Amino acid sequence: MEQVSLRLKFDNKIILAPMVRVGTLPMRLLALDFGADIVFTEELIDYRLLKCQRFTNKILGTIDYIDDDENIVFRTCSKERNKVVLQMGTCDPGRALVVAKMVEKDVAGIDVNMGCPKEFSIKGGMGAALLKQPDKVYNILSTLVRGVSCSVTCKMRVLPELEDTIALAKLIESTGVAALTVHGRTKEERPQHQNRTHVIQAVAAALSIPVIANGGSGEISCYSDIEKFRRATNASSVAIARQAEWNCSIFRPEGKLPLDEIILAYLKYAIDYDNNVINTKYCIQQMLGSLQETLRGKAFLNAQQVHEICELWGMKEYLQTKQKEFEDRAEKLRKLHAR
Ligand code: FNR
Repeated sequence: MEQVSLRLKFDNKIILAPMVRVGTLPMRLLALDFGADIVFTEELIDYRLLKCQRFTNKILGTIDYIDDDENIVFRTCSKERNKVVLQMGTCDPGRALVVAKMVEKDVAGIDVNMGCPKEFSIKGGMGAALLKQPDKVYNILSTLVRGVSCSVTCKMRVLPELEDTIALAKLIESTGVAALTVHGRTKEERPQHQNRTHVIQAVAAALSIPVIANGGSGEISCYSDIEKFRRATNASSVAIARQAEWNCSIFRPEGKLPLDEIILAYLKYAIDYDNNVINTKYCIQQMLGSLQETLRGKAFLNAQQVHEICELWGMKEYLQTKQKEFEDRAEKLRKLHAR
């Protein structure tokens, strides 16, 4: 009988790219609602996850990975189970595998970050530091591919020379990964630098696995631009970061929605999944951009508590109803356990 593969497919997809602090559960669910096919988590460092324990949160209906200091390092739920890819920061195949085994039943894929240019990553031998260590890249990815049942992918930046980029991409492909995301900028380049569409195109032509084009937010301002970017790179799929950070409805085929609607929908998910208020505030701040200068923007910047933020968008009642629902559920569970 033909084996039916449950693995995630990466061709012809529009994807929420990984973003630290932005790619937490409310934003991922919002991106899926608007039409994203696959959502990446923010980068989670392997040794942070290693310190976590997995809990089933019966009040919220989530799976939580919580560290010793009770920080929720990763929260997910069944709604995204088949579409969420956990991005890992790692420089060690053994550690990467332990973490991947720990989370594999809760996610559809594991991605290794080989593009982060931040000092923290480079000093730790992670992110873009891996671009110069093909042996380690091979080891990490092939260990993961052999060791886990879900899809394994990788996200890289381009190297200064085209041949080097292609050689590394081919080495990555040889590990058996399901797809490769290519951000068309070098480790040194920043968003204001031109994204190297032609390099992504050359990588896509050289590989057989799906290549996910990234770095196009500067040239994507509406839904149809996503396909234009895909065609320009001749890649299989597109991953979007900044445009989604500013207005997540970029994934909507019918067109973008006004910012207030996005913030309301985001806040609803933040309440439903009891998102950390600091994270909620950060994400809304990214959406507001220059609107932080308005009267409401200023009031928002002063807000410290989730109820203060909710009040500004007329969501206080919704918050109270949900909080009451959570308390009732918690009480029921306490009684059940006391029996
Ligand atoms: C990022 N990026 C990023 N990349 C990654 O591999 N892991 C991560 O955790 C992050 N974090 C992150 C946070 C924020 C706020 C931004 C804006 C970006 C890089 C991102 O995934 C993407 O490669 C670049 O932003 C280029 O794509 P866009 O923005 O042109 O679509």
